[in-house]
Amino acid sequence: MSSSKIISGGRVVTPTGVIDADVAIEGEKISAIAPGLAANANGATVIDASGHIVIPGVIDVHVHLALPFCGTVSSDDYRSGTRAGARGGVTSLIDFAIPFAGESLSEAADNWHARAEGKAMIDYTFHICVTRFDEHKDQIAGMVERGFPTFKEFMIYESEGWQSDDRAMFGTLEKMRELDSMLLVHAESSRVLDELIARAHTPEQMKKYGARLHGMTRPNFIEAEAIQRAVKWCEVTGGPLYIVHMSTKEGTEIIRDAKARGIPVLAETCAQYLVLDDSVFEGEDGHLFGCCPQVKKPEDSARLWRGLADGDVSVVSTDTCTFTREQKAMWQGDWTKIPMGMPGLETLLPIVYTHGVQSGKLTLEEMCRKLSTNPAEIMGCAPQKGAIAVGADADLAIIHPDRKFKVDPTEMETNADWSPYDGWELAGFSRTTLSRGDVIVDDYKVVGEEGRGRWISRKSAGPSKLKRNN
Ligand code: URP
Ligand code: ZN
Ligand code: ZN
Repeated sequence: MSSSKIISGGRVVTPTGVIDADVAIEGEKISAIAPGLAANANGATVIDASGHIVIPGVIDVHVHLALPFCGTVSSDDYRSGTRAGARGGVTSLIDFAIPFAGESLSEAADNWHARAEGKAMIDYTFHICVTRFDEHKDQIAGMVERGFPTFKEFMIYESEGWQSDDRAMFGTLEKMRELDSMLLVHAESSRVLDELIARAHTPEQMKKYGARLHGMTRPNFIEAEAIQRAVKWCEVTGGPLYIVHMSTKEGTEIIRDAKARGIPVLAETCAQYLVLDDSVFEGEDGHLFGCCPQVKKPEDSARLWRGLADGDVSVVSTDTCTFTREQKAMWQGDWTKIPMGMPGLETLLPIVYTHGVQSGKLTLEEMCRKLSTNPAEIMGCAPQKGAIAVGADADLAIIHPDRKFKVDPTEMETNADWSPYDGWELAGFSRTTLSRGDVIVDDYKVVGEEGRGRWISRKSAGPSKLKRNN
């Protein structure tokens, strides 16, 4: 249970800069930020952060836990997924509530609440997926009132029953404008993608190329054309748009141009697009790395890093959708049968810290903006979440500036029995994670109570905030 605490002696990343200060916590909230608070602790528990960096807890805005998908169910649920997040300094996550056959948006949210309750260690909420526009369109306003101001449409996944067409996207964006809410879009061009897959889907090609066909059948224009189209519907409707898991340099250019023209669009990328490339499909384990969109080329990663620093890309998330080796083995040599997705919650902060901050691509403040402050503002959970500020929830991660750990799937909290970063040496794992004042990771080990995580009620971020975010 939380009580008075003081985090003492750390370098604290605040919205106005990095300062040497103590952070006082009263109950669930940050009550003061100033040097020397620990000298008058008055019975508060003092947590030593000397030699460490104190950052706002990470908010992973793109997560799928226990998702029925690709003929199986993703293997991290709210128990293992939120434990993994805690170890990685993640204190809030946003999943996607998907209405299955005949279900309303409200029933989808209820189903996702039931998955989380009693299991989640960190706070959570859901984006609401609009999968059947005509059935769902009149339910959108009610979901905003219920505290869910962000919606999602997929431009692919027809076989899952999730795909939206241009008419649906156009109509949903009109609603977003009317309600001051935001549409998240998975942008890949389905008809041409299906055609390229059909052309390559022969026993000869599968034998010859194996998992490499995943990348070969999804050239960059598959994502770029879809982003361009979604941005056009955003421009003409004025409905706020957010492109999820952007993976290409072309996509980044489209977003940059659109933002320069005042179109209300933002984009996120994910850790895997920043540090992996399509050479991963060449190995024996290449199929493990299958996700949609797939990881691209080093020049795409370089452009995405630059886009983060320049403000073209606003957020880094994970798109966590974990499948074990056994689940991935369902592919049996046919890349179209790979359960698509990878684990990510536990390594998001270490990847961005090590490959972004330590390698000089992002400053510490920029990292915290992309992992915490922007996610909170864009998704409508600021000022409660996303920054070290008086009155905000005491969601914090304390990291060592240099100490590295070797990624070893056998020691991780995720249910995955593999990691895309197996053997990588990463700094930035959380020594101490606090969620609303409770210590949930201590000395790099998860110690929090399962089920303590709470649903986060959100409000629309508003167009002015969307424009400001970068
Ligand atoms: O491969 C992925 N990304 N799996 C999760 C579903 C999605 O498209 O986000
Ligand atoms: Zn997606
Ligand atoms: Zn996703």
